[in-house]
Amino acid sequence: MWTRESLHELAAGELRDYHFVVVSNREPYIHSHALGTIHCDMPPSGLTAALDPVMRACGGTWVAHGSGNADRETVDANDRVGVPPEDPRYTIRRVWLSKEEEDGYYYGVSNDALWPLCHIAYTRPTFNDDEWKVYRAVNERFARAVLQEVGGGQAFVFVQDYHLTLLPRILREANPNLVVAQFWHIPWPNREAFRVCPWQNEILEGLLGNHLLGFHIRYHCNNFLETVDRSIEARVDYDRYEVIRGGKKTEVKPFPISIDFEEVSARAREPGVEAEMERLRKSLELDDWIIGMGLDRIDYTKGIPDRLRAIDRFLERNPEYRGRLVFIQTGVPSRVHVPAYRRINDEIDTLIEETNWKYETGHWRPIIDLRGPLSPLTVMALRRLSHFAIVSSLHDGMNLVAKEFVASSVDEDKVLILSEFTGAARELTDALLVNPYAADEVAEAIKAAVEMPLEERQRRMRRMRAVVQENNVYKWAADIVAKMVKIGSGG
Ligand code: G6P
Repeated sequence: MWTRESLHELAAGELRDYHFVVVSNREPYIHSHALGTIHCDMPPSGLTAALDPVMRACGGTWVAHGSGNADRETVDANDRVGVPPEDPRYTIRRVWLSKEEEDGYYYGVSNDALWPLCHIAYTRPTFNDDEWKVYRAVNERFARAVLQEVGGGQAFVFVQDYHLTLLPRILREANPNLVVAQFWHIPWPNREAFRVCPWQNEILEGLLGNHLLGFHIRYHCNNFLETVDRSIEARVDYDRYEVIRGGKKTEVKPFPISIDFEEVSARAREPGVEAEMERLRKSLELDDWIIGMGLDRIDYTKGIPDRLRAIDRFLERNPEYRGRLVFIQTGVPSRVHVPAYRRINDEIDTLIEETNWKYETGHWRPIIDLRGPLSPLTVMALRRLSHFAIVSSLHDGMNLVAKEFVASSVDEDKVLILSEFTGAARELTDALLVNPYAADEVAEAIKAAVEMPLEERQRRMRRMRAVVQENNVYKWAADIVAKMVKIGSGG
């Protein structure tokens, strides 16, 4: 079983002669001004949640966009800051972007083109060439920062996600001593879906700058290989999962990402959680109701309206649960400058309002809307209070919310309703797997969840906990680091 300590040992031994550099758009710690002081917060991102414990174990430098309004005041003369603030274990090197750059590269290409292109959720991607030029320039900016951090030495550079598709090629051309790997945290669509992208060749050539390219599941690796095979001049080896282009090799492999199971379980058991549960019970007037929860970044890929419609259907079909079951929808607003994200927020508002109006009696209403930033303690208390959770993504690379729910279920007495279109569904087969597009099916799963006998709830949850405990984030990182080391030594 991989632990923080064993990953630390692996890194201390194998990465000894290398500088370890992670690169992502989103930074793991954001400094901002609030109420006259500077706060340091962790963003709602599966990517940063997974990689922060890895970096704490490995040490090194994390290059990322400095997005907080107090970020510039907290770095040194080289734009670096040690984190976590209370006990620094690694360094963030911040990259600064102007509003226009953020607009073109982050809101435009990354989240209005590539995100909808890769998630099959029936939201159209928008392709704008001016934004693509900005995206290119920002990738070059990240490359300069990485090369500066590396200096002349040897380094493993571990790039994250769809914001930085051009970076690997730039890095490999600039410094042949680097071992470059990238992890793609979202799905890779089939080649027909990807074909509509006008920048597909440049993106693929950028990604083939990597020595190693990781996806969550084998299906995404296959989609990637087929996309390359159909689009550009390259030799694709389907048996070895490799692409050779211009004499250079890229290995394409699945690495299912995860969480720090022990840490999340330990936090679930902290004494402050019970007090917070009590506070929530009182302030939300929860009585002895059956509680369901949804916790998401507010994104149209998460199927939040679909889930709310399923709750409506459940109450319509099972009137005996009116006044007895409440669903708490929490979530953090995200990417609100992209029109599709504004629309999804409006749709959620309307659905909650209509469903509550339809059924509410006395102080009971079926849906409690807790959207907005919540403290980690409150989130944990909400998980512990719930009898079931619904993760209803229309399409999702992995979905760590599902794994966090499992790790927090220390009473081993909760049910997870999980979309079959998440990467997590491949591992968490003891969840109630549903098609989120089928409201009736999700409504049935809610009924099955609340009526499931204790023994079955425990049996399923124990098995899921064992899976997440074993396939934890340290295993994910150790597998990738071991592969990079092998590549670095010419293997
Ligand atoms: C997904 C992406 C990450 C991203 C996160 C939060 O998990 O794969 O790259 O950080 O969403 O989104 P944001 O745009 O706020 O970073």
